[in-house]
Amino acid sequence: MAPSVKPARREREITLRFVAEPMDLNMYGNVHGGSVMKWIDQAGYACAAGWSGRPCVTVYVGGIRFVRPIPVGRLVEVHARLVHVGRTSMHVAIDVSSRDLQTRRCEATTHCVIVFVALDEAGRPVAVPAWKPKTARDRALSRHAARLMEFGRKSVPPPPAR
Ligand SMILES: CC(C)(COP(=O)(O)OP(=O)(O)OC[C@H]1O[C@@H](n2cnc3c(N)ncnc32)[C@H](O)[C@@H]1OP(=O)(O)O)[C@@H](O)C(=O)NCCC(=O)NCCS
Repeated sequence: MAPSVKPARREREITLRFVAEPMDLNMYGNVHGGSVMKWIDQAGYACAAGWSGRPCVTVYVGGIRFVRPIPVGRLVEVHARLVHVGRTSMHVAIDVSSRDLQTRRCEATTHCVIVFVALDEAGRPVAVPAWKPKTARDRALSRHAARLMEFGRKSVPPPPAR
C-alpha cells in the first residue's frame, strides 16, 4: 500500500525569489514594468490558489506603485499575503523588493493589492475558506485593501449594453 501523504497546512503567505534576467530588461537597463506585473500576478495566484485549493482568476489590481526600478542581476523577492477574504474573492497584498547580491542591500520596489476569484468546475465563482485579520497590522492592511476596492468599483464604468 502506498504511504499516505498528509496535505500541507493552508498558507496565507508566499514568497517567490529569483534573479532578474536580461530578457526582462526595458530600454533603460532596468526590469520592464510588464515583467514586474506578471510576477505580481504569479505570486498572487499562488497565494490565492493555495488558500482556496481552486483555480482562480484575477478580477482587480489596485494601487500599483512602482517605487524604484529593479536593475538586472538583482535578487527579486515577490511577497504575497492574503489580507481579506470575501465569499468567493481573496485580496492579496503584494510587496516586491530587490536585493543586491554583492552588498546584500535590499530595497522595496513595488506594491499593490490584487483580487482573485476562485472558480468551480463550471468556471463560476465558488466560496473559499474564511479568513479574518487578527493583528493590528493585518486589520490595517485589510482596511487599505477595502478602500482600494471601493475606488476601483467607483472608477470602472459598467460595460456598455449590447
Ligand atoms: C471573475 C469573474 C468570473 C467574476 O464573475 P462575476 O459575475 O463578476 O461574479 P460576482 O459578481 O459574483 O463577483 C465575484 C467576486 O468578485 C468580486 N469582485 C467583482 N468585481 C470586483 C472588483 N472590481 N474589485 C474587487 N472585487 C470584485 C465580488 O465582490 C465577488 O466577491 P465576493 O464573493 O467575495 O463578495 C468574471 O468577472 C471574469 O471572468 N472576469 C475575467 C477574469 C479574467 O479573465 N482575468 C484575467 C486573467 S486570469
